[in-house]
Amino acid sequence: MPTSFSRVSAADIDRQKNFCAKIKEKYTFGEKYVYMQTFGCQQNEADSEKLLYFANLAGYKQTFDQKLADLIIVNTCAVREHAELKALSITGQFKHLKEQKPDLIIAMCGCMVSQEFRKDDIKFKYPYVSFLLTTNMLWKFPEVLYNTIKTGKRQICLEMDTDYLYEGIDSARQSDFKAWVSIMNGCNNFCTYCIVPYVRGRERSRSSKDILCEVECLVKRGYKEITLLGQNVNSYSPEGEDCSFAKLLEKICAIDGDFIVRFMTSHPKDASDELIRVIAENKKIARHFHLPLQSGSDEILKKMNRRYDRKHYFELVSKIRQAVPDIAITSDIIVGFPGESDEDFEYTLDALKTVRFDNIFSFVYSPRRSTPAAAMECQIPEDVKAKRMEKLLAVQREIIPADTKNHIGKTLRVLVEGRSEVGEKLLSGRTETNKLVYFEGDDSLIGEFCNVKIERSDVFVIYGSISK
Ligand code: 5AD
Ligand code: SF4
Repeated sequence: MPTSFSRVSAADIDRQKNFCAKIKEKYTFGEKYVYMQTFGCQQNEADSEKLLYFANLAGYKQTFDQKLADLIIVNTCAVREHAELKALSITGQFKHLKEQKPDLIIAMCGCMVSQEFRKDDIKFKYPYVSFLLTTNMLWKFPEVLYNTIKTGKRQICLEMDTDYLYEGIDSARQSDFKAWVSIMNGCNNFCTYCIVPYVRGRERSRSSKDILCEVECLVKRGYKEITLLGQNVNSYSPEGEDCSFAKLLEKICAIDGDFIVRFMTSHPKDASDELIRVIAENKKIARHFHLPLQSGSDEILKKMNRRYDRKHYFELVSKIRQAVPDIAITSDIIVGFPGESDEDFEYTLDALKTVRFDNIFSFVYSPRRSTPAAAMECQIPEDVKAKRMEKLLAVQREIIPADTKNHIGKTLRVLVEGRSEVGEKLLSGRTETNKLVYFEGDDSLIGEFCNVKIERSDVFVIYGSISK
């Protein structure tokens, strides 16, 4: 698989920062505000933080009030139709803001607008959208923003052909204690249902030196949880270095400080014995492995181009659990992939019962334009997909409470994230296994680790009290 890409030079990034300086000097004196709307995965969240950094540099302060905004950025997702429709619908709602404030700039970027056919869609149906930016061009945001303001003309052209790798763009991080660190971009796997390789390009890995430098800096600033991001972190392989993902993790764990490392997402075909050993040996790595199975049927896995079968997956899970007994394993599951028979679906239900995942993220198959699966025969009717989804959730609902009860009586280390939304407004946090925990406590604990003794459990939440 070709892995050619262009490295954006430090001088090019400086040039972009100069565009920010020019915007700040000429156009954003006084109070100007940016409103960010992000859809989709953590990678998109991480991209949004970079765009916000640029926007801040250009003189825009972040606001959570749309009405106050002078610049609105909609960072879109294309993984399922539902995500696209949501992004289009919210962009539609911004029309009246533009009518009230003609200088308002509305930008759309990310995976949805990185599809050629969407360009025309937006060009004609959303004439008040000021500019589009594909995922590979995010680093050019200041230049495109500057040209939009300066010329007053829409910038809709998309440059799709080159994949880029860049350093030197900070992030306006939305949390003071949890940080996303993107270690690679793109994907080479071409699972037949997935749009990602088409909208995020080929895999390219950042150098381990740059990643270590970023993590070190975050830890020094007091960040407690670092989540390493990539479409398939297990195939991390920086150019000109002999550094596997497992080795990268080892190097990160050697950084001094009280923090935990998470990572996502992993492809089961690439999860190595070395990686399992490194997780087992390093207490800084959170006891959570997100390992998307997608389907329990070998027939469907083949049609999905996943390049493993259920036997391989089950063996992998056994190996992981043997080496790291306290680990939580979670999965993504797709129901209603083209050609999925009742028997195929039963294999998926059987896989849920066999593995007993700590949690699953389940999706109804959504045909994506240009992907091989969208053109496959035997697309499954929506009502059948919906029924299967219901059944899947019912099976998983039986599994989770039984397993969650195992936590009762244990004392677990929890990173306190904030206040629960419901009821008594208890403190809310996550265990290393990514379980949601509610308990009484003081606001000063937010952003800190504390030990919680677990007393009772619901389906999705466990409850406890602080212990020494
Ligand atoms: N339809 C439904 N779910 C999908 N995913 C990716 N593409 C599709 C699609 N076309 C799911 C996969 C992936 C997760 C991020 O989204 O389960 O792991
Ligand atoms: Fe999509 Fe498969 Fe790549 Fe994940 S590994 S991003 S599902 S193509």
